Formats: sequence, C-alpha cells, structure tokens
Amino acid sequence: MNILSETTSLAHFKRLLDQQIDRVHALKNTVNPIDFSKKTAIRVGICMGDGIGDIITEQAQRVLEAALIHERATKRVTLVPIHGLTIANRLRQGVAIPSDVLDALKACDVILKGPTTTPQKGDGGPNIESANVAMRRELDLFACVRPIQVPQKGIDWVFFRENTEGEYMLGSSGIDMAELSIDFKVTSDIGSERIIRMAFEHAKATHRKRVTVVTKSNVIKATDGRFSEVARRIATEYTPFGIHCDEWYVDIMAAKLIDPQRQADFEVIVLPNLYGDILTDQAGQIQGGLGTAGSANIGTQYAMFEAVHGSAPRMVTDGRAHYANPSSMIKAAAMLLQHIGYTASAAAIDQALLRAASEPSVAITGRPDGATASELTDWIIHQTQLN
Ligand code: IPM
Ligand code: MG
Repeated sequence: MNILSETTSLAHFKRLLDQQIDRVHALKNTVNPIDFSKKTAIRVGICMGDGIGDIITEQAQRVLEAALIHERATKRVTLVPIHGLTIANRLRQGVAIPSDVLDALKACDVILKGPTTTPQKGDGGPNIESANVAMRRELDLFACVRPIQVPQKGIDWVFFRENTEGEYMLGSSGIDMAELSIDFKVTSDIGSERIIRMAFEHAKATHRKRVTVVTKSNVIKATDGRFSEVARRIATEYTPFGIHCDEWYVDIMAAKLIDPQRQADFEVIVLPNLYGDILTDQAGQIQGGLGTAGSANIGTQYAMFEAVHGSAPRMVTDGRAHYANPSSMIKAAAMLLQHIGYTASAAAIDQALLRAASEPSVAITGRPDGATASELTDWIIHQTQLN
C-alpha cells in the first residue's frame, strides 16, 4: 500500500480532478457511430482469455466461423486472433493491457473476448487493473448491454449499464492515508446522457413501453442525483412515443427482480456502473446461471463482446474446464453478429440457446455428468443450420 500524507493526497486529488475535467471536455467532441452496413471489410479480434476462457471462447469462435462462412470466404469479415491478453503476460509486464495487445485491439472493429482473471489486492503479485475495465476505458466502450430472457416467466429484460464512469473510473486511483482510504465516484452529464439515451432509443426501436432507472439517489446525492436528473430530462423526450420512465433505488430493485409478481413488468433497465455490475449478475442467475449470460460493451468506434462472468480458475484446477458452459460466450458472439448487421444469424443462435436451455441431451452441469462445452456447441451449430 502506498500511504500518502495529507499534502500528497491533496495533490493527487487535484490531478484526478484535472484529468476528469479534461476527459469530460474531450467527450463533447462526439464522433458518429460506425455504420457497419457501409464497411467493405470488418475485422473481428478474438482474445481467448484465462481459465475456462480458452475453452468457451474457442466454442464461440466455432459458432462465428459457421455463421460467417460466406463473409469469411469473400473477406468481408476476417477473424483475427489476438494473443497476449493472459494473466501471465499481463503480470509479467505489470500492466492491465500490454501495449502490443492494445494496438492489435485497436486495429480491429469488434472484439470477442474470453473472461480474463483480475488480480485482487493482497494476492501477492502486482495489483494490476482488470483487463475489462482498462479495455472499456481505452476503447471508450461506454454502454454495457446485458439481455436476460426467461420466456416461461415472461422475463425479457435488457440492462444498459453505464460502463466507464461511477466507482470504476477511478477504482485504481483511490487514496490510502495512514488510517483511512478514500475512493471516488464520478458521474458526468455527458456520460450519463449517452447511456440513458441509448436505453430509451432501444426501447423506442423495439417497441417497449418502459424504461426503469436504478440509482441510490436518496443517499448518494451528487453522482446518483445527477444520473437521476439527466434521466428525468431525457425521459420527457420519449413520452410522446408512449415510453414511460420510472426510478427505483438499487436495494428495492434487487428485491423486485426476484419478485414473481413484478419480474415480468420490467423491460429496459438503465443504471450506473456498479449497480449494473451487481444486478446483472443477479439477473444472470435468474436466467439459469452466469454461464448463460452474454454481454456487449459498445462505443462509437469499437465494440467488445464477452461473458458476464469471470475465468472460473477453480473449474480448471478441478479438471472440469471442458464442462464449462459456453452459452455466455456464444450469446456474446450472437450479439457481435447483431452489432455488425448479421441480424438473422444472431436471432437463429439466440433461439437455439433458448432451446438448448431445456434440452436434456445437452444439459450443462459443469461436471462430467453433463454435456461438454463442445457437445453443446455442436448441437447449437446443428440447430441453427449454420453449416
Ligand atoms: C463484469 C465483471 C467485471 C466488472 C470485473 C471482471 C472487473 O464483473 O463484467 O461484470 O466488474 O465490470
Ligand atoms: Mg460483474
């Protein structure tokens, strides 16, 4: 721990404040999102990740290869392997994302990324930042979109989690003093507006009637209060389209997500970073476990698609990695296809994933009594008639 004196702490805080002011100014120079339908060549980077990452990402890659067979032949889409985003290489270099890996990521349009291990304070090694958090910031992937469906319960939710601000923005830049530590939470108008607008635009495009804003603005007055105010302002623009906006505090929202009387009522949910992190794990569990939950991280220039969960090192040490559920990464691959315009293939994969969830012959248990990752993937590829 690097203990700072009061004077150094103040200087550190001043530096952070200056950086944040500059960042928010830079965000005002908005760039239009890439229109993939106009691109003649699309590069899809593939990072395998750590732990079970290799196994489940390889399966998701097979699904992509099958779905893009013609596009790969005509070179409209190229799958580009990106090596080096591994915990061993990251620890060796002492950085969240080695610079050659970052360059390779930036040379792609979209990325499929397997789960990566995040070291924790006290692990003994260098306490480097999470690769996800660094990638979201470096590529300005401000929108974390996490769909959850349980058709038999009428659940069809899409979470829009703000992905770069909140507690995460300065999560590795807190201050340790002799007897206390301070972390920071950052919320800007522009950062809130772009994610909230995306949630409302999604509701409009998919004919949904409700957008739920989740905060703790009764207690966290400045940052959550700002998020809530921005949401109220934007909501008025969408009332003419029949879209209703309601606001819930994160604690009661956690309860209502598991309330059978309420579950089916929620549709689009927009929330700051940390609440989104927590509630989307809960939602993934409601869907059938985190192994089923995929995630999109979207910016204007890049997008990255991944599982909601981590690298499950315990499954590897137990020798069960081949029984890991690849559904999360296959769902991520479907979201990638949707993002670059292959809507029909994406829908076919989504449907197959939903059917697989109740198909006993490919039930995944994470153990040898269940299907392997590759058996489930064979079934999905066959069902979607992708090849
Ligand atoms: C997620 C993960 C990450 C996060 C971790 C790995 C840093 O939990 O994508 O939800 O907290 O955002
Ligand atoms: Mg999480």
